Amino acid sequence: MSGLTRRGFLGTLAGAGLAGAGLAGCGVAGAEVSGKALSSALPLPRAFTVPLPIPATARPVSPGRYEVTQRAAKVEIIPGTTTEVWGFEGTFPGPTFDVRRGATATVRVRNELRVPTSTHLHGGVTPPESDGYPTDVVVAAGRGFRPPPSAHGHHDPGQWTFNPGSKDYVYPLDQRAATLWYHDHRMDFTAPQVWRGLAGMMVVRDDEDDALPLPKGERDIPLMICDRAFEEDGSFRYPSLDPSLLVRAGVEGGYMAGVEGDVILVNGAPWPVLDVDTARYRLRLLNASNARRYRLELTGGGRFVQVGSDLGLLAAPVTHQSITIAPGERFDVVADFSDRPVGAEITLVNTLGQGRARDVMRFRVTRAVRDDSRVPARLSDVEPADRAGAAVTRVFDFRRTGQGPDQAWTINGRPYRPGVPLAEPRLGSTEVWRFASDFHHPVHVHLGHFQVLSRGDKGPSATDAGWKDTVDVRPYEIVDVLVRFTGYRGRYMLHCHNLEHEDMAMMADFQVV
Ligand code: C2O
Ligand code: CU
Ligand code: CU
Repeated sequence: MSGLTRRGFLGTLAGAGLAGAGLAGCGVAGAEVSGKALSSALPLPRAFTVPLPIPATARPVSPGRYEVTQRAAKVEIIPGTTTEVWGFEGTFPGPTFDVRRGATATVRVRNELRVPTSTHLHGGVTPPESDGYPTDVVVAAGRGFRPPPSAHGHHDPGQWTFNPGSKDYVYPLDQRAATLWYHDHRMDFTAPQVWRGLAGMMVVRDDEDDALPLPKGERDIPLMICDRAFEEDGSFRYPSLDPSLLVRAGVEGGYMAGVEGDVILVNGAPWPVLDVDTARYRLRLLNASNARRYRLELTGGGRFVQVGSDLGLLAAPVTHQSITIAPGERFDVVADFSDRPVGAEITLVNTLGQGRARDVMRFRVTRAVRDDSRVPARLSDVEPADRAGAAVTRVFDFRRTGQGPDQAWTINGRPYRPGVPLAEPRLGSTEVWRFASDFHHPVHVHLGHFQVLSRGDKGPSATDAGWKDTVDVRPYEIVDVLVRFTGYRGRYMLHCHNLEHEDMAMMADFQVV
């Protein structure tokens, strides 16, 4: 198989805080289960008691220039306890960047954490040196850094770039209005570092989107949904933090499937509540979970009117009774509370969840108003995807390979090796990329934006519409997407966005030539 040795793989996992996890194999408990649940050790708050926080908006230090610091901070997530987060500006989520198409944003990321970081703008059309390559790391000033020995071949010193103190990430944002997000992407440690809080959102706006009569201002709300588990003292629980759990994990097969928590957070608050008017709301849904998929529904027969996908407006709105959202995906939807009475309570639920993971958040109608917003029948021009224009079809097989202790998550049978591209698409070309899988693998492509062409012998699902960068590939499914490579030549990557899978080597480089 991969040439990955048990020692090397375990070494990598130990460093990532996942020692002993999952090497005995992972049973797929149910067709819709995409990870293994971790339970909290402290009493959990009642749902719908904590108000929904809205992350602060990042303020430029001068036009187009931002500075953010990654640092540890104690915050109150579960009422009455404190949790140490590793956050951009010490917050979780980090600040929301509100930026405009074509206006370059230069973000200086300063790292004051005791671990190296690499920041990636998910969905960004970004030059390669600012894309958050996993071995292009920022290390706190005064801290030394030695690349860890690893089975992935990235102990090769030539693969590492070491930025002392900070790095300037340049985002030209020459792309449509969309909801993007940023998160840590450090080699082998993305899952534990995002779990601790290194993630935030970016809203790119443009004239086309602004001109639509969609809900705006306080009724245009980013919702970062993710799951976490907590220790008795309020700190985040992750497999590495509990030795007894680690031992059991090793015996039972553990967390190879991915880590799920039993607390659902929206914008960093557990099962929050938002007071709303009798009006329409634009909800920018992001699944920022490590492994959990959600099937979102509104109680009381509410519908989602989808206006945008991962990468901006759809051609026309699509109405859904439920939306399945995989890690990394975004859905830009309008929820209409205008015909609900004051006093009504509408719950956003996750019908894939068990127990308390079935609830997400609640909207409470508190004020009757007149609302002029509406969802027009035409939203934008989205060129229909045409397979005929594709230069080539490439197959990427997302699969667990190897036996027993030699198992790994791989693409085309290969665990990730930085610097070894699996594909060399031409700048300006369009290709069909075929993703095959053995499990739930939300496949994400950097730089290249795509449209879903087919799922097996069926067409795309209703929730596949529009331009995307992440697609929910389900067990034993073959999904074809049409990817367009515009922007920049250079080294980029594709990977599974189940962050535990990503850290367990389900990632590959491609080189735009
Ligand atoms: Cu959202 Cu390469 O990641
Ligand atoms: Cu990305
Ligand atoms: Cu995966």
